[in-house]
Amino acid sequence: MTRNILKAAAVLIFVIAYAVAVTGQSSEEATASDPAYVGSKKCKICHKGDKNGNIWETWEAGVHAKAMESLIEKGDDKNPECLSCHTTGYGKGGYDPEADVEKPLDLAHVGCEACHGPGSDYKSKKVMEDREAALAAGMIVPDAATCITCHNENSPTFKGFDFEEYWGRIAHKLPGDEPVETESGE
Ligand code: HEC
Ligand code: HEC
Ligand code: HEC
Ligand code: HEC
Repeated sequence: MTRNILKAAAVLIFVIAYAVAVTGQSSEEATASDPAYVGSKKCKICHKGDKNGNIWETWEAGVHAKAMESLIEKGDDKNPECLSCHTTGYGKGGYDPEADVEKPLDLAHVGCEACHGPGSDYKSKKVMEDREAALAAGMIVPDAATCITCHNENSPTFKGFDFEEYWGRIAHKLPGDEPVETESGE
């Protein structure tokens, strides 16, 4: 009797140890290969305020930071037909309508990472200060092609897209940089 219980316990311990080893390993592999979405608030720490060009403030006051509100107004905030363009990284390991609904500024809306790429590997100070390293870690310097992934005819409200004009309405830059170049030549 006692022998059987001991044997059952041994088997159970083995199974648990095996499960822990296997899950531990696979999650480690996932972080090593795919950069993860960290949420816009992680970028805020370094990209807010006058001396950093008010990039956070510009985004927060802009249209992209309200993209989820537009869906909520229509009762479509869980509609997969809408989430890919009105959130950050939906269907790519980013926004999850079940998990992130309580953290509206993190991955809801068109956040920093919707244009600059998932930030887990480039957001550290050391990598950020080294442009080549940041690019190698997945940071994207967006251009018109980035915008057109959402600004296209699959948008039910699409009314055309002009990069110079549209960028002008959401433009942000680091202090001390040359003004972001546009064809209208400001
Ligand atoms: C620990 C501070 C820190 C965090 C967190 C951070 N950044 Fe940065 N970022 C910097 C610094 C420092 C620079 C370089 C500024 C410079 O060159 O003057 C930079 C530069 C950049 C650039 C410009 C790169 C280039 O050369 O064109 C982009 C884009 C950027 N960050 C986006 C992000 C995004 C998106 C996030 C969040 C996922 C983020 N950053 C989080 C500190 C940070
Ligand atoms: C992940 C999808 C996505 C990407 C990428 C994206 N946008 Fe948008 N954009 C949206 C959505 C969604 C809205 C509507 C927000 C709302 O009002 O709910 C929007 C609205 C806008 C508006 C306001 C349009 C209007 O009718 O008032 C401008 C301007 C704009 N985007 C510029 C840009 C530019 C410039 C880029 C590229 C640098 C860009 N967007 C990239 C999703 C995106
Ligand atoms: C709709 C797309 C979009 C979103 C959202 C967005 N950016 Fe950008 N960002 C751009 C584009 C386009 C540029 C200009 C790239 C270039 O210089 O060619 C840029 C440039 C930058 C730069 C570099 C500016 C410079 O002077 O070199 C930083 C830093 C930056 N973004 C940070 C952020 C942060 C932080 C957020 C979120 C608070 C954010 N961005 C949200 C599209 C976006
Ligand atoms: C292919 C990307 C994309 C999809 C999918 C998408 N949207 Fe949008 N949405 C946008 C963009 C970009 C804008 C900015 C206006 C435009 O279309 O140029 C926008 C703007 C809006 C607006 C702002 C108000 C307006 O009239 O300009 C509302 C509301 C909206 N979308 C609702 C929805 C709903 C509801 C769905 C799902 C049924 C949806 N969107 C699916 C990209 C998209």
